[in-house]
Amino acid sequence: MSVNPQYLSGNEIRQKFLDFYAKRGHQLLPSASLVPEDPTVLLTIAGMLPFKPIFLGQRTPEFNRATTSQKCVRTNDIENVGVTKRHHTFFEMLGNFSFGDYFKEQAIIWGWELSTKIFNLPPERLAVSVYYEDDEAYAIWRDKIGVPEARIKRLDEDNFWASGATGPCGPCSEIFYDFHPERGDNNIDLDDDTRFIEFYNLVFMQYNRDADGNLTPLANKNIDTGMGLERMAQILQQVPNNYETDLIFPIIEKAAEIAGINYSKSDEKTKTSLKVIGDHIRAVVHMITDEIRASNVGRGYVLRRLLRRVVRHGRLIGIAGEFTTQVAETAIALSEGAYPEVRVRENAIKAELQREESQFLKTLERGEKLLEEVITKLKHSSKTVISGEDAFKLYDTYGFPLELTQEIAAEQGLTVDGEGFDAEMKQQIERAKAAHETIDLTVQGALDKLAENIAVTEFVGYTEATATSIVEAILVEGISTEAAEAGTQVQIVLNKTPFYAESGGQIGDRGYISGDGIVVRIEDVKKESDFFVHFGRIERGTIRVGDSVTAQIDRACRRRAQANHTATHLLQAALKKIVDESISQAGSLVNFDRLRFDFNCPRNMTPEEVLAVETQVNNWIAEAHAAKVETLPLAEAKARGAVAMFGEKYGESVRVIDFMGVSMELCGGTHVSNTAEIGVFKIISEAGISSGVRRIEAVSGPAILDYLNVRDNVVKDLSERFKIKPEEIPDRITTLQTELRNAQKEIEKIKGQMAIAKSDSLLETVESIGEYKYLVAKMEGVDAESLKTAAERLQQKIGNNAAVVLGSAIEDGKVSLVAAFGADINKKGVQAGKFIGAVAKMCGGGGGGRPNLAQAGGRDASKLPEALEKAKGDLKASLG
Ligand code: ALA
Repeated sequence: MSVNPQYLSGNEIRQKFLDFYAKRGHQLLPSASLVPEDPTVLLTIAGMLPFKPIFLGQRTPEFNRATTSQKCVRTNDIENVGVTKRHHTFFEMLGNFSFGDYFKEQAIIWGWELSTKIFNLPPERLAVSVYYEDDEAYAIWRDKIGVPEARIKRLDEDNFWASGATGPCGPCSEIFYDFHPERGDNNIDLDDDTRFIEFYNLVFMQYNRDADGNLTPLANKNIDTGMGLERMAQILQQVPNNYETDLIFPIIEKAAEIAGINYSKSDEKTKTSLKVIGDHIRAVVHMITDEIRASNVGRGYVLRRLLRRVVRHGRLIGIAGEFTTQVAETAIALSEGAYPEVRVRENAIKAELQREESQFLKTLERGEKLLEEVITKLKHSSKTVISGEDAFKLYDTYGFPLELTQEIAAEQGLTVDGEGFDAEMKQQIERAKAAHETIDLTVQGALDKLAENIAVTEFVGYTEATATSIVEAILVEGISTEAAEAGTQVQIVLNKTPFYAESGGQIGDRGYISGDGIVVRIEDVKKESDFFVHFGRIERGTIRVGDSVTAQIDRACRRRAQANHTATHLLQAALKKIVDESISQAGSLVNFDRLRFDFNCPRNMTPEEVLAVETQVNNWIAEAHAAKVETLPLAEAKARGAVAMFGEKYGESVRVIDFMGVSMELCGGTHVSNTAEIGVFKIISEAGISSGVRRIEAVSGPAILDYLNVRDNVVKDLSERFKIKPEEIPDRITTLQTELRNAQKEIEKIKGQMAIAKSDSLLETVESIGEYKYLVAKMEGVDAESLKTAAERLQQKIGNNAAVVLGSAIEDGKVSLVAAFGADINKKGVQAGKFIGAVAKMCGGGGGGRPNLAQAGGRDASKLPEALEKAKGDLKASLG
């Protein structure tokens, strides 16, 4: 699908919203992470969430107006995704916020202006709701805005908005778009979603609700709003549902292509699966970007569940192998303009998807077989309920979340005994307590059970790259086992290891565990309690518990991580020295390719400061400062001035990394022994990521070469293509851009002239009806703009009594239609806007405009001749 150029793209809608409010004094802020600071919610569910402390008066805002496009995930309506026209797990909420500044009236005035003047929604197609007691909002809509009373509805609970059971809240007022104004204004029902869609919610946030449900007025009256970007795109792109907008449809098309099917020719069930994939993969991509990893608890579980649904719906539409990284690529490409971090995290996203998907596919196959047997048996005995026992077995042994079993059951007209499932779960926990031998699916659970019998891991990696160790435990798919053979993905616990386990922002080491005929490639290492869990794949041989093995890290990877980690410390020190002493760490990531440092910063940085920070770090590198690593009591380390991360919990004795006179930090990570080992440090980007928090991404050490090679290849390629020196490239591109713009203008002009020239011959086909004249014709290969010029010109040539309707098939099987009516035609009561809208409907589209000139688009060019026949018929009927 490519959206009709006359419609706004999702990106344009987002930009127009943000520009509108930025021009009205709102600070434009980037989306906050999907992982909220607020501990009472699992995921960011609304644009207001990052501002909750401000609404509650706990934090003083730097600005009193803000606007954002916020990434949100909600899973309360997950079973409606793909089934209704507009439910999502991931969506973008556009919001404007006032912190004790403007209130109800201004919010309504701007909300209306944006909807009708910027997005050009016809006022007669809008309806609004207010909280039933909110006479003030009612009066503003009626008297200030002029909405007819029949189109203002008072609603109860639905129009009181809160982000949770407690916290800031208030009455709200919503703006709806009407797909069927022809159904009239009598007793309109805003809940009728075949007719209305709510697209903009204005919350007048003025209370705090406590745990008992009491409301106390907030010190300030605030505004919180939310416009669903996907819904606005549905309205403006005139597509039948949110999933067919340009924000999601390319993912659906990609999934369909992989499955070898065609979306528009598919049945409803297949379409639903495609929509689920399109929706969920966006959620998955953004969740992993925000550093959520699949697991069996909390948000990790949400991620796992969404991903497993993607995989299963893929199978339902006939995809046999792994495919999620391919659809994720499309989702990344669609999002990277507005959220560049998704591209930065591309590798992490794809690695996580691959790991989860391959693991799940295996269990899924086995589980599906079992479930099929269960279902067949049930059907033979004419029963309709899958027992709690079977559902639990699927969960416990095959990793089927209960919801998944329920969903598959529902597809077959069956249900699942949820209570029975819960009872099984309870028994399982009891059994596990009584005897330490039941199977648990999580690594953590399995280790808890092994904990008493195996040794905790001794970490020797600060000084050693190799260790001779004993295999303490082997897990396959989270299940403890005595042996595992080549080809298996395993988790291995050793009594001693040189591998650093992911923590403090630094990722786990890579390397090998080898022994007698055994080679295991280690891809990641994590810490669970005091055990180091080595994630890897057995390349050769069979590994057994009790084996004596050699554990060896990949030193090249380690050197990269060390350089990036020490560089992160130097960066923090340089920021404090050059920008502001109060700067503190808000998060960090150290991997083999780059480093990322998030920090609380009272203001924006200037480009000069960014450069000065980079130079300072490079100076410290060149000065060759040696590292002094000591383990000290916490109090002593603090007394010496070591930097500790706020909120971090440290043990009694702490490890201190000291580059004397430059940086001293508490840190468990691995570091270079002398700053000179880092070589070079380069900042790649510096930007704000949420209110008061900024992010620097940089590369250092051996990773610099990769970074430079990529850049260098781009420059070389361009310079070869243009056959010029690298330094001449910018000027050449400016010249080309100007030439291209001029050429495009020229083409437009010529196209217009050709259309007009062609159109004159149509004058011969003018027909008359009484005192009126009409001309209805198809033009070949004329774009929307030229078609309009031609129609206007023909109408003027024929006169005030002329009705001209032209249609043309444009690219991708779409059509463009235009009606130009003279003044006499309007006097007769026939309006171009309404007229052409009705005609376009026959081609699967719509549109409108002024009474004298209006344009519309459609998606099905094969219906154009019929539509033009209808236009003729309609004109004859209304002018006769
Ligand atoms: N916070 C409001 C909502 O989510 C705007 O609808």
